[in-house]
Amino acid sequence: MATQGKSIQAQASPVALLSRREQISILSRSDIFRLKPEEWSKVSARLMELEEIYPSEIRFSEDYKKEEMTREGSIALLARADGKIIGEAYGSPLSSLRDEELAEDNEELAAFKQMFKRYVQTEPSVFYLMAYDVDPEYRERGTGTALSIALMRGAAQAGFSIFASHSKEPTSANIARRLGGKAIFSYPDWYGTKSTYTLVEARIS
Ligand SMILES: CC(C)(COP(=O)(O)OP(=O)(O)OC[C@H]1O[C@@H](n2cnc3c(N)ncnc32)[C@H](O)[C@@H]1OP(=O)(O)O)[C@@H](O)C(=O)NCCC(=O)NCCS
Repeated sequence: MATQGKSIQAQASPVALLSRREQISILSRSDIFRLKPEEWSKVSARLMELEEIYPSEIRFSEDYKKEEMTREGSIALLARADGKIIGEAYGSPLSSLRDEELAEDNEELAAFKQMFKRYVQTEPSVFYLMAYDVDPEYRERGTGTALSIALMRGAAQAGFSIFASHSKEPTSANIARRLGGKAIFSYPDWYGTKSTYTLVEARIS
């Protein structure tokens, strides 16, 4: 399996609430690297296995996931343990999503439209977390938090000032809040999944 990107190093960060020392401690326990777009085909089978974590209503097709993880401006991080990929986190500048999402006149996109409306003043400095997940066998040992911290740092280093996500309650939203995120709106039945998702935003610079 191709793994080959550079590991994410602990660096100074504006990400709040957890102290820098705590962040570095969490990051140092995880092996996180950045996916290079040209290496997609070497990891796609495993990444589509991880996609099964999501309920069918929000599961991405391989083409869609490839586009989201490899498009210009996106940052895609993978976590590795025991010689395999155990988690992923990726996102893009909100401005790169806006046209295509708004182009469809679809009631289901109401949550996205509400988010775009909120950030109309601040774009293009918003980075949007598209997805993140950890293999169930490797959860509750800090990998999800480490992926979030690393992606927030990556977005801050790329010049973004806000990190936004629709985070599932309670687990992923709790992680987002612990990392300095502020809850903005909640959606009780996100895309028919019966789960509550909250738009959480964190200032990263
Ligand atoms: C959300 C998700 C990525 C979190 O992954 P994770 O690796 O379990 O995350 P962490 O270990 O960093 O944190 C999870 C919990 O474990 C706790 N935890 C972290 N390290 C721990 C440790 N060493 N021992 C015990 N608990 C620990 C955290 O405090 C957190 O607790 P909380 O739920 O009370 O907030 C994972 O649950 C997942 O893949 N969910 C399904 C997909 C999904 O919903 N993705 C998010 C969409 S927005």
